[in-house]
Amino acid sequence: MDDQLASSLGSLKCYWLEPADIMSKTAELKLEGKTYQLPVIEGSEKEQGIDISSLRSQTGHITIDDGYGNTGSCRSAITFIDGEKGILRYRGIPIEELADKSSFVEVAYLLIWGKLPTSEELRKFSELFTENELLHESMKHHFEGFPASAHPMAILSSMINATSCFYPELLSSDVKGHFKLDAVRLISQVRTIAAFAHRKSRGLPIIYPKPEYKYTANFLHMLFSVPYRDYELKPEVVRALDLIFLLHADHEQNCSTSTVRMVASSKANLFASAAAGVCALWGPLHGGANQAVLEMLDEIHQSGDDGSKFINAAKDKNSGKKLMGFGHRVYKNHDPRAKIIKKACDEVLEKLQVDDPLLSIAKKLEEAALKESYFVERKLYPNVDFYSGIIMRALGIPVEMFTVIFAIGRMPGWIANYKEVMEEPTRIYRPRQIYTGPTLNPYIPIKNRL
Ligand code: ACO
Repeated sequence: MDDQLASSLGSLKCYWLEPADIMSKTAELKLEGKTYQLPVIEGSEKEQGIDISSLRSQTGHITIDDGYGNTGSCRSAITFIDGEKGILRYRGIPIEELADKSSFVEVAYLLIWGKLPTSEELRKFSELFTENELLHESMKHHFEGFPASAHPMAILSSMINATSCFYPELLSSDVKGHFKLDAVRLISQVRTIAAFAHRKSRGLPIIYPKPEYKYTANFLHMLFSVPYRDYELKPEVVRALDLIFLLHADHEQNCSTSTVRMVASSKANLFASAAAGVCALWGPLHGGANQAVLEMLDEIHQSGDDGSKFINAAKDKNSGKKLMGFGHRVYKNHDPRAKIIKKACDEVLEKLQVDDPLLSIAKKLEEAALKESYFVERKLYPNVDFYSGIIMRALGIPVEMFTVIFAIGRMPGWIANYKEVMEEPTRIYRPRQIYTGPTLNPYIPIKNRL
């Protein structure tokens, strides 16, 4: 382990909850005439959880919680969300401040190492991205195997997983010894893989990264330059995409991050764990919602509806429609990222002089939905995906790449969570179930079956 990593790990220790701090209260459970004491765990923001880890051994019962809405799967010091108040903080720092003052690369450092970097640490961290930006040259051939119609999320997850074939040290059990290199390699190369996937799907030649460009500018260069002409990097475009990456960088125990932690708990390598995260993110109820929002807005636009018909359909459970980009498992108030993105969306479209009819449809939909009792009673507000697609469209990013952009942004969060799993004495994640199938059932020989 190098000195920087060691000192970062040292500074992280202060966030951990010591057993003495977390077991000041107990909960009582009365079951079948007996009373059981269960410790109550309190987090640094006074969130409380009943520790049921000894429940089965004490009582023979497990808990059941469909969709894990009430289950704390881990203790984590990375991101804090208060969904009732609409608060999101990375390592204690409000997302609004980071969006205003920070950059994606700085936030990546903050999430993974637990503190804001000094200028020297940030410079070295950025240099590492440049040093590790090239894919292993043999990986290029793998892109040839995908059909042109392949979704870039499929390519992204496959290629991230395939990366471990080219760096055998990833598979060594000394995770701490190579973690830092794995982390920068993954954050750096995910944008190269993503850009190559896009070029492949359009039948365009691959564009290599340029060492003189910073992280986000380099991604735009690989996405949009052509061999005979470099893409013109407009500062407002680079800043807007950097903001999108930053706002997506972590969001505590969502579906994809829990997937990464689940895979990591089996001691799988970082690239395999992140590839699983990409697969979980792809679904339209999660990261895939940004693509689904744009498709929904386009459908509304094409049909000549002003949004009201669609809202009525979204309220009808039998219609099979949902107001995509609305609702959240944790936020029962405005998603703070959505507020930032909406403002950025107005600014970027004005600067780029883009007049997108989908933006006015989105605003009308939001206004109408927030007055409808269906959405008000269920506390359904716009989430991060509601406006992010409109900015990405204005930046020229194709719709099938939207979820890929989300995945690039989420990489530091997944890596920080992977690191926590590897540093904590974590047991393999292995939930239980309540079995509802047939009871003991004899095998019937085929000739006797009806
Ligand atoms: N449109 C219409 N109705 C909705 C919507 C929606 N977008 N979201 C939730 N509801 C309804 C549910 O059907 C449920 O109705 P009911 O009480 O009558 O049965 C009620 O609102 C409460 O739903 P929740 O329990 O809060 O939803 P859940 O936590 O299971 O799901 C989810 C959250 C998946 C985000 C959901 O709101 C949804 O499907 N939204 C649209 C997809 C989307 O935007 N996903 C991105 C989420 S953010 C992210 O992953 C980055």
